[in-house]
Amino acid sequence: MNLHIVILAAGQGTRMRSTLPKVLHPVAGKPMLGHVLDCARAMQPQQIHVVIGHGADQVREQLAAADINWVVQAEQLGTGHAVAQALPQVKDADQVLVLYGDVPLLQQATLQQLSQQAGSQALGLLTVMMHDPSGYGRIVRNAAGQVQAIVEQKDASAEQLLIREGNTGIMAIPGTQVQGWLTSLSSDNAQGEYYLTDVVALAVEQGVAVEVVHAGDEEEVLGANNRQQLATLERSYQRRQADRLMTAGVTLLDPARIDVRGEVIVGQDISIDVNVVLEGKVVLADGVVIEANCVLKDCVIGSGSRIKAFSHLDGSELGTDCVVGPYARLRPGTRLASQAKIGNFVETKKADIGPGAKINHLSYVGDASVGAEANVGAGTITCNYDGVNKFHTQIGAQAFIGSNTALVAPVSVGDGATTAAGSVINQDVPAAALGVARARQRNITGWKRPSKQD
Ligand code: UD1
Ligand code: CA
Repeated sequence: MNLHIVILAAGQGTRMRSTLPKVLHPVAGKPMLGHVLDCARAMQPQQIHVVIGHGADQVREQLAAADINWVVQAEQLGTGHAVAQALPQVKDADQVLVLYGDVPLLQQATLQQLSQQAGSQALGLLTVMMHDPSGYGRIVRNAAGQVQAIVEQKDASAEQLLIREGNTGIMAIPGTQVQGWLTSLSSDNAQGEYYLTDVVALAVEQGVAVEVVHAGDEEEVLGANNRQQLATLERSYQRRQADRLMTAGVTLLDPARIDVRGEVIVGQDISIDVNVVLEGKVVLADGVVIEANCVLKDCVIGSGSRIKAFSHLDGSELGTDCVVGPYARLRPGTRLASQAKIGNFVETKKADIGPGAKINHLSYVGDASVGAEANVGAGTITCNYDGVNKFHTQIGAQAFIGSNTALVAPVSVGDGATTAAGSVINQDVPAAALGVARARQRNITGWKRPSKQD
């Protein structure tokens, strides 16, 4: 049985009140359609078809990938019409899985179950018991509990509106039936649309088995029609991430106040304080502590390292037992060897900081390497840019850079060398030497301060 997955994503999403097509609105920093594609790919289908319409170019551009067959549905004539646009090449032995681009939290395990239970012969429906099913199609069953049809809210009788089993819209259709069913749909209903849901009544009529899988919880199959629902999805997603981290052995001081926007790989006994955002790919080794209000994007943090409050780390790699912050900014290409220390109001970029080296206060270190155990004083600036080119600064092992030193790159300060506070260093300082580059102090004795005249 080969799988064809059709993702419906042509709708406008009027209620989002946005110029961005609905399926591009992000959950956890990734377009909703991106989440659905991840789930689809995990099924290893023969082909993924994505039906687009509103904002088609934008959607195609943002999620461009070789494994997607983009299908443009110029006019949105209904979900049945949408699936029909995508289906010229389906074979009898195939199964067609229909997903929605605006239902991003669907888990692969659920989809797998639906696909397996339906197999290549039955129609599979993913339904959910709902607190408030308004807006959803209702699953109509007979006295024996067998599914008879799906009735849309707008076409439902007062009695049918009381049904709490809702249609998620996610469906598995047997390849043998799909063409026939789709061509016999009519638009004779309250919305004048070709409803995909009408295939259920067709299956029943033709004696094709209908298999139902219940979604674990409502949130898994929730769609986003407006920004309130988008926020609900976001919180639901984040709750799941927090849960996963705690299960893996991470202490979260408040599981409601961490946001994961990407992939986080964790060791054990990590502690994360409130309002931490983890983006891209973040690897945290054993015993890492992240204090409150930090943002880490694409970082690897070695075991025992501590990120103090209000720090921002991007594209950085820390060895073991490093200390960063509070209020530090580590930009891409920063690498700290073990036990290195970056203090408050320090910015680094493309910087290799050696083991045990310290940059404790108010500095900018960019395009630089700092040797082991070096001490970079407060207010040190690497002047790495002449307006056109970037140049490198080399600071040797155990060097001592006096406070408020400007290092005009390209320049190097040798092992064990010292620079005098306030120096503008634009020539190399040899190992173990002292570089002084500032005007000599002059004292004028008996200096009379200006006095006020009246
Ligand atoms: C649909 C189902 C309903 C189900 C609900 C779940 C039908 C007729 N109804 O209703 O039973 O409870 O979803 O959310 O299927 N789309 C297209 N092209 C179209 C129409 C829709 O691509 O011509 C896409 C939309 O972008 C959206 C999805 O299909 O992603 C669902 O369409 P929508 O109009 O929201 O369906 P509902 O009326 O909510
Ligand atoms: Ca509709």
